[in-house]
This record gives sequence, structure tokens and C-alpha cells, in this order.
Amino acid sequence: MYQRNTIDISRIEEQEKICREIYEIINAAETRPLAMVDTYGCQQNEADSEKIRGYLAEMGFGFTQDEFEADIVVVNTCAVREHAEMRVLGNVGALNHTKKAKPGQIIAVCGCMVQQEHMAQKLKMSYPIVDLVFGPHELWRFPELLHEVLTKHKRIFATAKSDGSVAEGIPLKRDGTVKAWLSIMYGCNNFCSYCIVPYVRGRERSRLPEDILKEARGLVEAGYKDITLLGQNVNSYGKDLDIGTDFADLIRMINDIPGDFLIRFMTSHPKDATEKLFKTMAECEKCAHQLHLPVQSGNDRILKVMNRHYNRAKYIEQIETAKKYMPDLVITTDIIVGFPGETDEEFEDTISLVEKIRYDAMFTFIYSKRVGTPAAVMPDPYTREDKQKHFDRLTEVANRISGEKHKEYIGSEQKVLIDGETGRDEYNLSARTNGGRLVHLKGDPSLIGQFKTVKITDGNTWALYGEME
Ligand code: SAH
Ligand code: SF4
Ligand code: F3S
Repeated sequence: MYQRNTIDISRIEEQEKICREIYEIINAAETRPLAMVDTYGCQQNEADSEKIRGYLAEMGFGFTQDEFEADIVVVNTCAVREHAEMRVLGNVGALNHTKKAKPGQIIAVCGCMVQQEHMAQKLKMSYPIVDLVFGPHELWRFPELLHEVLTKHKRIFATAKSDGSVAEGIPLKRDGTVKAWLSIMYGCNNFCSYCIVPYVRGRERSRLPEDILKEARGLVEAGYKDITLLGQNVNSYGKDLDIGTDFADLIRMINDIPGDFLIRFMTSHPKDATEKLFKTMAECEKCAHQLHLPVQSGNDRILKVMNRHYNRAKYIEQIETAKKYMPDLVITTDIIVGFPGETDEEFEDTISLVEKIRYDAMFTFIYSKRVGTPAAVMPDPYTREDKQKHFDRLTEVANRISGEKHKEYIGSEQKVLIDGETGRDEYNLSARTNGGRLVHLKGDPSLIGQFKTVKITDGNTWALYGEME
């Protein structure tokens, strides 16, 4: 059986010591050195970037969004689709200009994309401006790697294959003050046939409940009001720990923390979503009635070749069970269009499923071939144009349904969490309903971080509009 690999806390303390050494090196200059962290991909990557910023802050860096100003640029990459990789490579290439203008600038590229051997190789051969490359498994020792770059003046590549580890105690510098990410597990064991994530993120490994609870308590004490539990498949939380705590139990433990806050989570895999989970969500008053349950396709043959381990009927049954416990449940999904060999008829099954479930929102993707995955070598006779046509049609259906569902809110009262400013005059504040739908409001920015009851006055595909009492 797979042995869970934990990084001893003394090794993280060593990293923090190295942060202080770097502090001495870089803070010799008169002006405070600045760092820019550019993040692509999913919330897990956002959460990883908060750790990178945590370390950088300990090294004494300030932060900037301007790559010309930055003394170090860290690009945290995604590999899930070709488009994401192209954007990363384009933007790393553009750093040629910034490095020319500022020759001492350090450029680091990390994250999922570089964990693929061919990509690390590409950066090594074709992007000489890149000083440091490290995969997700090496993030915990980023200070040590950067220290080597700074003191030995050579390029460092740390992308060895690994099943991954769990490292507690890495400092975090969070982005917001109202909403927070909380990783509860890392990696993925599902090997959906199209997906690169299990290859770059390693095996599933859960953090211990006590470590998660400690972090959650800290977040509540610091005033965070909206906590999203993160994992590629949160429903398999705890399976590797063998301590009898599953994901539903974890939600209940977090719900028991005193305070006024919301618990959200993503992502759930339909193959492991249980009635116990839905019942727990309904019973825990802090758990948002929001479920992101990626279906990927509405056709049984496609689901089978995708290696998803459920079928259309089982998925529909799950949604029905979830709604039985939470009639007001907001449901969202991910769908892939144009999986190798997907026919017109098979695509129609996806459309009919979407019409049946009526998702509040959907994330739709055209299949992207990922080197090394089983789907990459499956016959794929349909053209990009065929796939685009299907994609456009699905988007149209998804947008229509979202618009219709948002219109149903008009006239209702919703308890929302005000979470930020929009930068626009008319509706200057943004908020989220319990189910996670976006609401635009007018009001005083001092209300950010507060729950308020608002009346919904309008809604379209993208958002709701509301008025405060
Ligand atoms: N672990 C999550 C998803 C992570 S990736 C889950 O299983 O639900 C986010 C989404 O990207 C997936 O749900 C899928 O719809 C999409 N995706 C993953 N690999 C893809 C590929 N090769 N081409 C197109 N879309 C892909
Ligand atoms: Fe990818 Fe499937 Fe794992 Fe999600 S569950 S990350 S789609 S392999
Ligand atoms: Fe991308 Fe890695 Fe997330 S591949 S979607 S950043 S886990």
C-alpha cells in the first residue's frame, strides 16, 4: 500500500532559516526587493501561490503586479489544457524584455506544467532566461532552491518524479481578507483518461483533521467568513488516513467551530459523493448549499472511456438525493466537449442531461490532448470545427439556463456575504449568495466582510443585482 510521506516540521523550520539567510543577501540593497507571483490554473494553484508568497514575505520581499519592477517573478503554471500551457509559455517568453531591462531579475517557473518532463526540458533548452524550475512536489523547499540560485549563480531544475508528500507549517500569505482557500488534501488517484492532474500532482493524500481544524480556527479568528475546502476529489478525503474520518465528518467538525462563517468545498467526484455527505451538508448550518459536481458527459459510453466510474443514471440519482436534502441547492458542473470519438448522438446526451439538471452555472471545455494520458492515443476522427460547433451549442444552452435560473431570484430576499468592490460606480460592491451566485450591489465599502439580507431586483446569465434594505 502507498505510504503517506510527511515532511518533518524540522525540515520546514530549516527552510524558514534559509528564508532569513536570503533576507540578509537581498536586503543589502537600499530599496526593498519586490516579488511578483503570477498564478494559472485552479484553486489548488492559488493556494500553492499563497505558500510561495508566504516564503517570499519571510525573505523580506514586498509584492508587485508589475513584472518590470519585480526582482523575482514566480510563474505558477497549469497543465490541464494546451491553451493554459500556451499562455504560460507566451508570458514566460515575454519576460525576456523585463530581464533585459533588469538583468539581475530572477525568473522561476513552478507548478503542474513543469512537472511534465517534456516541459521542463523545453524550458531548459529554449528559455535561458528561466533561472529556477520546480514542480509541485518541491514547493516546500522553495527557499533552499532559490538560495542555490542566488549563491551558486546557476540554473536549478527540481522536477523529479514523486508520489508527493504532506508538508505542514509552511508560512502562508493569503490574498483576501473575506474568502480563504483551505487545502484538505493533495493529489488525485482517479486517472480520468483525459486528465494530466494525477501525473503531475501525485497520489491522494489527506491532511490530518487536527491540522485542518487548527487552520480553520485560525481563519475564523482572523475574520474570514467564507472558507473553501480544496482537493481534486474531496469526497475521498481520509481514505488514505485510515482513522475513520470521512469528508462528511470533516465538514461537521469545521461546522462546530464557533463563529459566523460559510463552508464551501471543491471538487466533488460523483463516484464517491454519498448520501451521508448531502445529509451532513443539510444539517450543518454553516455549510453552503452549493455543489460543484463535474459530470463531464451525459453519455454512458463516453463516461466509461473517460474512466469516470459512474453512469448517467447514477449521476441523476445523486443530484436528486442531494436536492431532497437541500431543495435550494445550487448545482454547477464541468463538461468536456469533443472527447476522442464523441459522436453527434453522444453529444446530444450531454445536452439532454444539461436540460434535465438545469445547472446554475457550467464550466465547459473543448477536449485537449495531454501527452502521456490514455485518451491521447485514442482515435479522434472529428475536426476542431465539429467540436467547436458542439461547444458553441452547449455554451448557448448553458447560458440560457443560467439566465433563466437567475431570473427566478428576482423579488426574493437573499442572505449574502459582501466580499469586494467591483470598481464600477453604479453597482460598486460584489457579494455571494449562500449558494455562491454573484450579486452586484450598491453600498458602502465598509460593509465588505459582512452578511446582509438583500432584495434581488434583476438577474442575467452572469450575475444577480440586489438592493440592501
Ligand atoms: N478534480 C476535478 C477537476 C480538475 S480539472 C474533478 O475531477 O472534478 C478541471 C476540469 O478541467 C475538469 O473537470 C475537466 O472538465 C477539465 N479538463 C481536465 N482535463 C481536460 C482535458 N484534457 N481537456 C479538456 N478539459 C479538461
Ligand atoms: Fe483529473 Fe479526474 Fe482527478 Fe479530476 S478526478 S483531477 S478530472 S483525474
Ligand atoms: Fe491546472 Fe494543476 Fe490545477 S494542472 S487545473 S493547476 S492541479
